[in-house]
Amino acid sequence: MSPQNDIVPSMKSIKINPIKKIVGSIRLKGDKSISHRTVMIASIAEGRSVIKNFLKSADCLYTVKAFQGLGVDIRFLGEDLIIEGAGLGGLKKPQGDIYLGNSGTSMRLISGILAGQAFETTLTGDESLSSRPMHRIIEPLRLMGARISAREDNFAPLTIKGGKLKAIRYKSKVASAQVKSAVMLAALYVDGVTELEEPVKSRDHTERMLSLFGAKMVIDDQKVTLYGSQRLKAQAFEIPGDISSAAFFITAALLLKGSELVIKDILSNRTRTGLLDALTNMGGDISIENKHFNGCEDICDITVKYSSLKGISIEKDKIPSIIDELPILMVAALFAEGDTLIKGAGELRVKETDRIDSMTAALTGMGADISVDGDDIKIRGNKSIKGAKVASLGDHRTAMALVVAALASNGESEINDIGCIDTSFPEFFDLMESVSVKN
Ligand code: S3P
Repeated sequence: MSPQNDIVPSMKSIKINPIKKIVGSIRLKGDKSISHRTVMIASIAEGRSVIKNFLKSADCLYTVKAFQGLGVDIRFLGEDLIIEGAGLGGLKKPQGDIYLGNSGTSMRLISGILAGQAFETTLTGDESLSSRPMHRIIEPLRLMGARISAREDNFAPLTIKGGKLKAIRYKSKVASAQVKSAVMLAALYVDGVTELEEPVKSRDHTERMLSLFGAKMVIDDQKVTLYGSQRLKAQAFEIPGDISSAAFFITAALLLKGSELVIKDILSNRTRTGLLDALTNMGGDISIENKHFNGCEDICDITVKYSSLKGISIEKDKIPSIIDELPILMVAALFAEGDTLIKGAGELRVKETDRIDSMTAALTGMGADISVDGDDIKIRGNKSIKGAKVASLGDHRTAMALVVAALASNGESEINDIGCIDTSFPEFFDLMESVSVKN
């Protein structure tokens, strides 16, 4: 289970002092979900894909390494990522296990592709990834005919032996893009039509990207019908900026008096913009301009200005579109007038850490008043919070949410284990520094 490579982030801690405001214009590296899918889908397409603005974060680099290990020629040419697609049937058995660090997206999606391969592969990860539920993908992939073994039938290491798969009609119990994508990627290897339905529509990057690469499918709300045995054709495109990373800057600008921040070329796919809706409903001054399309994804520029916020209620059916942004929304809610209620956020408990517990413990340590009832979270607003020594528990989004809380608090904070931020946003501190006004 040890990393055996140099991608693994360090464990250092950081002291943060409050800042006055943030001002400026930034552009972010590619969206993490889209960066992963680009490597996977281009690897099993035919021809050379040329990708701009790929996110070189630890998680995405594990996906690159995994496909290099599966025999795909992938290289960086300056800032471009060049992928020589091996075709659906062109992957090779890797030498040894594939280590995926902290990356749940890599493990769950790659499992779908491995389900279509005749050879056996074992996927491993770090301690956090090895404690995340995998039964949710094991079940449908087994129904399709893959042989999969896992510790306690639920946790990595996963050993997958695929081959000829059969079409299924599957209703997922969880609204998870990772489950949906694993089934869709496996469905490419099926001689027939696969149907997948989810309880609430989750992010649809796999649908959009497979369509761009030429796959035939029908999408009807929460149901995807995908035709198997299709050939995918290489593409060239630019990945839009990561909206989940932008979330930390958007929130910081809303909370710090006098702030005004422009974020250019950011992903604005509606399955991912739940935070923008929530913050706008809270009274946030967020404007969207320059909407455009890169062939598969919606993109825009965002301008955010300091605003006084009020508490709102977030219903369970909105959770998938805001799932990765709930930690930073909890921080925003602390500075709002009135309470904010987040309902049915149970999926937060199975992220890189239990984010309901990690955020509640750390923010309570900074003086926040938060109560948790099962999977519902109530945050009392209108509080000024104080600097404190807090734990990220090695979770990148918890760590960045706490940095923003610390920037907007009174007094110095110390946040441990911030190396984990490299899993999704290696430029986080440099960019924050570039727009920070300290006094
Ligand atoms: C992701 C989907 C979400 C999200 C994760 C990335 C993806 O997970 O939390 O960070 O790229 O498909 P679930 O699909 O399990 O909710």
